Amino acid sequence: MKIYKAKDYNDMSRKAANIISAQIIMKPDCVLGLATGSTPVGAYRQLVEWYHKGDLDFSEVTTVNLDEYRGISRESSQSYYYFMNRNLFEKVNIDKSRTFLPDGMDPDAEHACESYTRIIHSIGGIDLQLLGLGHNGHIGFNEPGIAFEKETHCVTLSERTIKANMRFFPSEGDVPRQAYTMGIKTIMSARRILVAVCGEDKAEIVHTAFFGPVTPQVPASILQLHNDVTLVADEAALSECPKDALYQMAKGGLL
Ligand code: F6R
Repeated sequence: MKIYKAKDYNDMSRKAANIISAQIIMKPDCVLGLATGSTPVGAYRQLVEWYHKGDLDFSEVTTVNLDEYRGISRESSQSYYYFMNRNLFEKVNIDKSRTFLPDGMDPDAEHACESYTRIIHSIGGIDLQLLGLGHNGHIGFNEPGIAFEKETHCVTLSERTIKANMRFFPSEGDVPRQAYTMGIKTIMSARRILVAVCGEDKAEIVHTAFFGPVTPQVPASILQLHNDVTLVADEAALSECPKDALYQMAKGGLL
C-alpha cells in the first residue's frame, strides 16, 4: 500500500484528483469506479477545473458507482445518481450513457444487483476504484460482518451509517434503510484502488482498517490484501497510525 499524506482536505482532494487524472490520461477509455459522500467532492471539483482548463478529456471514460439507496428515485436530490450528475457528470464531457449506478428504483433486489454485476463484467471490470471510508470501516455500503465474497448485493444500513448520512436528509426517519452496493469481491477485483480519507474523526478507523487484523468486522481491512492500493489521507486522519509503519508503507509514495 502506498500512503500519501496530505495537509488538509484541499490537499487531499488535489492529490486524489491527480491520481484519477493520471489514470484518465494514461488510459483515456478507462473504467473508473466512483464514490459519493463528503470526501470525494473536492476531488471531483478539481477534476472539473482541470477539464475546463483543457487538461482532461472524459469523452471515452466509463464510470460505475459503488452504490445507490434502495427506493430513492434518480430525480431525488438525495440519490447518488443526482449527486454524481451534480458534482461531476454534467460538468464534464462524459458520455452519460456510460455512467452507471445501481438502479435504486428496481424493487426486485436480486434483479437490480445481478444487472449491475453484469454491467461491471461487461465493461471489463474497473481500472481505478475510488473509495471513501465509513466510521465503522464500511466501504461502499458493505457494513461490518459482510461476507468478503459478495458482488453487488442489497444491504441493510447500520444505525451508525444511518446517523452519519442523516445530514443529507430532512430527518433520520427519511434516511433509506437499504441500499444496493458493489460487494467486497467486486471492489477487490478493481485493478487499482484509491482510498481517500479526511479528518480526525476517521483517525481511529484508519488505524484499525489498515494496521489491524483483516476481518469482516472491519470491511476496509480486506484492502490490506489488494496489491495496488493507494491511501490519500490528511494528517488528522493518519494521526493514530504508527509512524515507522507509515514510513515503511510509504516507500514509493510521498509522505
Ligand atoms: C459512498 C460510499 C460510502 C462513503 C463513506 C464515507 O458512495 O459508498 O462508503 O464513502 O460512507 O462517507 P463520507 O465521505 O461522507 O465520510
